[in-house]
Amino acid sequence: MTRIAYVNGQYVPQSAATVHIEDRGYQFADGVYEVCIVVNGRYWDMEGHLARLQRSLKELQMAAPMGIEALKVVMGEVVRRNRLKNALVYMQVTRGVAPRNHPFPPEGTRPSLVITARRFDLDQSDARAKTGVAVISQPDIRWGRVDIKTVGLLPNALAKQAAAEAGAAEALLVRDGVVTECSSSNAWIVDEAGAIITHPKTNRILGGITRQTAIACAEELQIKVIERPFTLEEAKAAPEVFITSATSFVMPVISVDGVRIGSGKPGPVAMRLREAYKARAARG
Ligand code: PDD
Repeated sequence: MTRIAYVNGQYVPQSAATVHIEDRGYQFADGVYEVCIVVNGRYWDMEGHLARLQRSLKELQMAAPMGIEALKVVMGEVVRRNRLKNALVYMQVTRGVAPRNHPFPPEGTRPSLVITARRFDLDQSDARAKTGVAVISQPDIRWGRVDIKTVGLLPNALAKQAAAEAGAAEALLVRDGVVTECSSSNAWIVDEAGAIITHPKTNRILGGITRQTAIACAEELQIKVIERPFTLEEAKAAPEVFITSATSFVMPVISVDGVRIGSGKPGPVAMRLREAYKARAARG
C-alpha cells in the first residue's frame, strides 16, 4: 500500500514527498520533532507529546505551524489514510525555508510541518520485553539543551550505531561519570529496596513523556521513585536496569557493557511497570 505523508498542507504519497533544499531543518537542524504511538486506533500519551512539542517550539522561539486541535486532526488523518490500527507517528516542525543564513529568517516565514506514520508492531515489542535487551555505554557528547527535542541527533545516531555494532539495543550515555539517559530513551535502575531511580529532569536529559507516565504508574503501584543521577558502576551492580520511551514503553535491560544485570532476565519491577504503563496509556 502507498504510504501517505502530510507535508506543508498536503497529503502526498510518501515516495513523492519532498522538502525544499533550503529548509532550515535540513541545513541547520533547526527543527523539533515528536514520536508517538497509536494502539488500536488510539493515541498513547498524546497530550504529553503535544505539550512537549509546544515547549520545544517555545524554547527555540519557533512559530507553531498550526494550533493543537488542528494538529490532532492532521495526525488522525495521516493514520486514517495509511489505514493503520497500530502506528508510529512522526511529526517534525522546522523554522521553514529561507536563503542559508544563520540568524532566524524574517518574521512571517512559514514553519514546515511533516507528519508520517508507519506500522507499529506491538507483539514484537512485547517479545523483546520478554527476553530483555542488552545495552552498552557511550560518552554523552551532546549539546547543553538536550531537554529540547530537536532533530539535531547526530551524537544520538553515533551512539546508537555503536550499540548496533556491539549487538546491543541501546547506548547508556555517560557524562561526568553519570548516566544521563540513552540515545533515544530514558534510563532507570532499581535499587536493593525496590525503588526506581532515574536522572532528574534537567537540561541534561530529554524529559520523556513515557518517563512521566511511568512515574505516575510507579506511584500508583506504591513503588518509590527517586530522581537523582546514578553512575555506570551503580547501573552494572543494580538488581534491575530498564529504559523507557514512546516506542519501547518500559523495556527491561539484561546486560550493560556485557555485564549481566540481576539474573540476566527481565526484572519484576520493570515488568510490573511495563504492564501498568500499557494499561494506563491504553486507558488514556
Ligand atoms: N525518542 N531521550 C531521548 C534522547 C529520546 O530521543 C527519547 C525519545 C526519550 C524518551 O522520550 P519519550 O518517552 O517521550 O518517547 C528520551 C524517540 C522515541 C525517538 O527519537 O524516536
